[in-house]
Amino acid sequence: MKNPKRYLITSALPYANGPKHIGHLAGAYLPADIYVRYLRVQQKDVVYVCGSDEHGAAITIQAMKENTTPKEIVDKYHAMLKSNMADLGISFDIYHRTSSPIHHETAQEFFTALNEKGDLEVKETEQYFDEDANTFLADRYIIGTCPVCSNDNAYGDQCEKCGSSLSQEQLINPRSTLSGNEPVKKLTSHWYLPLNKHEDFLWQWILQEHKGDWKANVLGQCKSWLDAGLQPRAVTRDLDWGVKVPVAEAKGKVLYVWFDAPIGYISATRQWALDNDKDWKPYWYEKDTKLVHFIGKDNIVFHCIIFPAMLKLHGNILPDNVPSNEFMNLEGDKMSTSRGWSIEMEDYINDFVKKDNGGEQMVDALRYYLTAIAPETKDSEFTWKGFQEAVNSDIVGKFGNFVNRTFVLMHKLCGGKVPVLHMDLLDDTDKNIIKEIEGCKTKIEQLIEQYKFRDALFEVIMLSDAANKYMQKKEPWIIAKQTGENGNLTAEAQMLVDNCLHICLQLTANLAIFINPFLPFTAKKMCYMMKVVDKMLDWENAGKLKLLSVGYSLREPQLLFRKIEDTEVAEQVEKLKIKSEKLKVEEKPITDNRQLTTDKKPEIVFDDFAKLDLKVGTILSAAKVEKADKLLRLEVDLGFEKRIIVSGIALHFTPEEIIDKQVVVVTNLAPRKMRGIESNGMILMAEDNNGKLYFIKPEENINPGASVN
Ligand code: 2FM
Ligand code: ZN
Repeated sequence: MKNPKRYLITSALPYANGPKHIGHLAGAYLPADIYVRYLRVQQKDVVYVCGSDEHGAAITIQAMKENTTPKEIVDKYHAMLKSNMADLGISFDIYHRTSSPIHHETAQEFFTALNEKGDLEVKETEQYFDEDANTFLADRYIIGTCPVCSNDNAYGDQCEKCGSSLSQEQLINPRSTLSGNEPVKKLTSHWYLPLNKHEDFLWQWILQEHKGDWKANVLGQCKSWLDAGLQPRAVTRDLDWGVKVPVAEAKGKVLYVWFDAPIGYISATRQWALDNDKDWKPYWYEKDTKLVHFIGKDNIVFHCIIFPAMLKLHGNILPDNVPSNEFMNLEGDKMSTSRGWSIEMEDYINDFVKKDNGGEQMVDALRYYLTAIAPETKDSEFTWKGFQEAVNSDIVGKFGNFVNRTFVLMHKLCGGKVPVLHMDLLDDTDKNIIKEIEGCKTKIEQLIEQYKFRDALFEVIMLSDAANKYMQKKEPWIIAKQTGENGNLTAEAQMLVDNCLHICLQLTANLAIFINPFLPFTAKKMCYMMKVVDKMLDWENAGKLKLLSVGYSLREPQLLFRKIEDTEVAEQVEKLKIKSEKLKVEEKPITDNRQLTTDKKPEIVFDDFAKLDLKVGTILSAAKVEKADKLLRLEVDLGFEKRIIVSGIALHFTPEEIIDKQVVVVTNLAPRKMRGIESNGMILMAEDNNGKLYFIKPEENINPGASVN
């Protein structure tokens, strides 16, 4: 949209059912925050809304797990999420919640408006019912086998293993999570949004109008939904936690969480307007409002198809863009709080931000790395080593280093004041770097406006890199040694030193403006050092060489960032491993009717078995295999020889704890190369229901090489 009059920016409302991890932060919050901060320094009329999604089975199931009420759950996690986001510099204008009265009222009005216009259909259908619990079973209250990947614990709305979006009917062997029983079918009425009637409009609006400006991943997902044909979607549920369906005969029914949650953007705007004495309506009704939803890829269908259909029927504006991110993986695996394979925002804050004196720099360090590896076009990967490298080399080594050197030299060679710029002495090197500042501004603008935050941030780092090179080439510390006969610095040498440091200081001021949307705490600190007010960070000041006045005295430098140490990386990797192992043992599916014996293999004859050469071995040494999180390289003593065996047990055991253990080895398995290492045999392990591994070993230690028959 060209020249919108106002902007309304939203980030997906996180479920208040537990802590959220840094993958969420990177997906829907950090990019929106960068965008909003960029708009604010351009003096745009922008409102950034978010809040906790406090309804749905995600909440009630968590309440069951924690043996408490849904209300307690949302109160607890809403407070946590709100404070985590604030600590990480996510600058919402309002962080609201869907349990608030204004939200219930807004969602009910919305439903009523559509219902009264005849835009919803009521249908009676059979739904699963748990006779013991005497309740209908919505979405996540049903689990069963996924028809796509055979995961035994797929939910009624989604399989978390393969990501397929499911309906309850598709589950094989459905069972109730409340009682573990097989549910029965019972008739119930629900309100449906007949999406099938809006296919043409959606097709035209998404795939024609937005073909050129929406991201390919978003358009691709929408196209596959539209190609498959849209079905009417139930927008009510038989549950008692949620927004009550505002119709007399709908007792015991609430709005489906995915109907009420996006309306949360509207209710949050209303609350913001009330708090700030503003009118909320233009933000949702005027065509010159640019509405942008920042989300993760699992939310695409809701924000690009279902909510827009609702908005259109309700007479609201439609989103101008839905910049959805892909997922961020962690150390070689999918990030998941429930499996303990995640870095919670809360944990990062406790380990780095609160612990560190001046932890704000650690907020910016995280914001830097998450943006530098943002999963904008494909899934990306967070590793602690990568975090360390990015921080140490880019923001400590390039950005921070340049700013620090500039300040130190300015104090040493220019008396702590902004020196004069002698235009007549500017050479090509000076002129080129000045041009780069201007060019950088234009590039960042273009990239941010296309939601390419990662590339925009690289432009800033590249400018700081160029700035370092400029200073290195000019070597003002060498020029400062050119003394005349009287032992004083020559006038020309002082002028050259002044020019270089004048340019470096103006570069520093520009770098502060450029980095501000990404690393706001850093920009603020730079303003403090330059003794300027935050107003200097206004975007219109960028690209200029006159931000700091000649003769103005500046403060002593402070280090902008500290290095990340190897020990911190090792500690975090270890912590992750321990957390996930612990959860693997503790976390059982809510009901688990699997029988280990169902995994039967076909019968074999004795000769088949006799082909295996099984021997007892002793593990002599164990080491991790580089770039393979699951593999350990073991040296095993088999009595008659020592063998190298690569085993996929690294997520279950540390190398230290298995040394000297006895194991049973299949010794006549053909050698196999794994990650470049030849593995000569296989260690036998038993696996329990929860995926925990156990060694198979003789009761007492015996001589290695003993056969197992
Ligand atoms: O996927 C989720 O975490 C949802 N709570 C997102 C809701 S976004 C919006 F619709 F509120
Ligand atoms: Zn599946």
